[in-house]
Amino acid sequence: MHGKSSELHVRRAKHFGGEISVPGDKSISHRAVMLAALSNGRCEIHGFLPSEDCLCTVSAMRSLGVQIDVLEESAVGPVRLLVHGRGLGLSAPAGEIDCGNSGTTMRLLSGILAGQPFAARLVGDSSLSRRPMGRIVDPLAAMGAQIAAEGPKGCAPLKIAGGGLVGTRYELPVASAQVKSAVLLAGLFAEGKTTVVQPVTTRDHTERMLDFFQVKTVTSGDEIAIYGGQVLESRDFVVPGDISSAAFWAVAAAAFEGSHLTIADVGLNPTRSGILQVLAKMGAHVADSVETDGSGEDRGNITVHGGGLKGIEIGGDIVANIIDELPVIAVAAALAEGTTVIRDAAEPRVKETDRIDAVAGNLRAMGVEVEEAYDGMTIRGGATLRGARLDSFGDHRIAMAFAIAGLFAEGETVITDAGAVNVSYPGFEDDLKALQRPPRKGEGGQTPVITSLPGKAAGRLGEAKGAGSE
Ligand code: S3P
Repeated sequence: MHGKSSELHVRRAKHFGGEISVPGDKSISHRAVMLAALSNGRCEIHGFLPSEDCLCTVSAMRSLGVQIDVLEESAVGPVRLLVHGRGLGLSAPAGEIDCGNSGTTMRLLSGILAGQPFAARLVGDSSLSRRPMGRIVDPLAAMGAQIAAEGPKGCAPLKIAGGGLVGTRYELPVASAQVKSAVLLAGLFAEGKTTVVQPVTTRDHTERMLDFFQVKTVTSGDEIAIYGGQVLESRDFVVPGDISSAAFWAVAAAAFEGSHLTIADVGLNPTRSGILQVLAKMGAHVADSVETDGSGEDRGNITVHGGGLKGIEIGGDIVANIIDELPVIAVAAALAEGTTVIRDAAEPRVKETDRIDAVAGNLRAMGVEVEEAYDGMTIRGGATLRGARLDSFGDHRIAMAFAIAGLFAEGETVITDAGAVNVSYPGFEDDLKALQRPPRKGEGGQTPVITSLPGKAAGRLGEAKGAGSE
């Protein structure tokens, strides 16, 4: 499967399970490169995700004068980088900066560029050029940056001439870690204190990583404050596996009768691991073992044993935590007995594609009854899925979610434009094949046991099970 126009062919699986580790976390890889670049020295980044999105961040930082060396390549791309930090001062780029398909690159970088005393222009592909940028333009302009969205309806390209920022207090109108991060990063360069207030908790990788680089932020509930002018002390960083990538395998294993799956060394940051709570609430046998390393990010193993799933209601504060997992959760809902209702989830409409529309259309094409709402959908589970020809709409998570659906469908499922998976998961197709290999003689279908901390895991999932309305 090469190039954006390629197809992915999937047939009903006869086996599913084993042990796997997934590539590095996308959100953390972007932030590691950006913060290392702003630090006062050399930083090695281990476990970097060599996906198209994260490589856009690498080339963007290089175009701003940051030297980034590749220390190690895996089969899918560079996984260990040496970033030569420049302190807070970057250089003007020679041309426009291409953020590709990556909202994280464009929005977080805008926060950094708002603090730089030069002009830059950020462009993206056709999907990124349709995504809302007013949400970062408003706070960065309020801090004093000259920033304009040149596309229609407040979209990219973005023209930014930064410098002279003053700290502000900004209440986010939408739950968005990207917007929160853009404002906090701009706050590094601003005079005085910058405070962001978020409507609900969103992923906190930026706060954790700033802390790791010895920058003080003050968090009180959903209010986060940062003082400008602090020095980022250079450090090496180890990126954990991406739980959003692991989610595809966790759903497949949970729905596959008799399967045993272990996903090793995944990020288990509590602002990201809501997928495990959702699966537990659907009746899945899932456990995690959380360990904390010095990086400030929790990590560990996830184990899943396949059995029947049941429909549930999903809404409220957990939605921000599972925002990228909603497409594959919708697939889990189709495979479950009973009805699943997803509400309070309008944000998927402004992701790489309108994910509510894409998921509903593709599920219907497979024979599932789905009602769409502006902020969610109702999915009637339990129907036999029919293989179909499905569009990814150029969206990596739609492509991968429907590859999982294809494992349970009659006949062949073909995902078109499936090269999009490389945006976040290079090697997805190989892993999809590997997990369907029948267990070798003597393995008996059992996954090797991995040391875990069952007490902690059971506690967290136990709480989730009783949580009622989320
Ligand atoms: C991300 C935050 C989320 C998520 C995206 C990555 C991040 O976007 O959907 O894939 O790295 O901060 P929003 O903050 O726009 O919800």
